[in-house]
Amino acid sequence: MGMERRSFLTAITALAPMLYFRSEVLAAQDVDFLRALERAQRERPRLLTATARIAPAEEPGAPLVIHGRVFRPHGRTAAPDVVVFAYHTDATGHYDRPSAGPHSWRLRGWTKTDAEGRFEFATIRPAPYPNRPVAAHVHLSIDGPGVPRQDAGLLFEGDPGLTDAERQESARAGRFGSVRPVEVRDGVQHVTLNIRIATS
Ligand SMILES: [Fe+2]
Repeated sequence: MGMERRSFLTAITALAPMLYFRSEVLAAQDVDFLRALERAQRERPRLLTATARIAPAEEPGAPLVIHGRVFRPHGRTAAPDVVVFAYHTDATGHYDRPSAGPHSWRLRGWTKTDAEGRFEFATIRPAPYPNRPVAAHVHLSIDGPGVPRQDAGLLFEGDPGLTDAERQESARAGRFGSVRPVEVRDGVQHVTLNIRIATS
């Protein structure tokens, strides 16, 4: 409440974040969504490391490791000390229990990029929403020194829910594309994601 919330909302709203999931652009303008994001950030651990879990080890679902790297806007140099917040649906496509209300994200985690801009999340493969034809995805939000908060996304190559527009946008972005191939090693899925900081 008070000044802190107002300044947070103003900062977020002014950013016009580049969301990969166009259907969720409207949601991102929604005050309830912004409040939920603010609520989630209050629970950010004080000590952040480059490696963290999103889903707990006992969470049902196929194990997945997201190997990420954040780059400065020109795309050549790594960006250290960037906080990466990520959340996604569970293996049934839900963000949270029905009783938790809208914009509650049970499966979420934070990392901070290391000197080479790298971060890693161990989690499970999210499922697509049960009632909407949207490809399964992971939401990421980054911010850090000189980096205004911005959104990024991860989609999975071969997901039947991918649209042509998503595939084309990803292909145009080259190595910064959001549709990532999945490699399976020893029963664990691995994806790599390169995020380029956008200038606002
Ligand atoms: Fe989503």
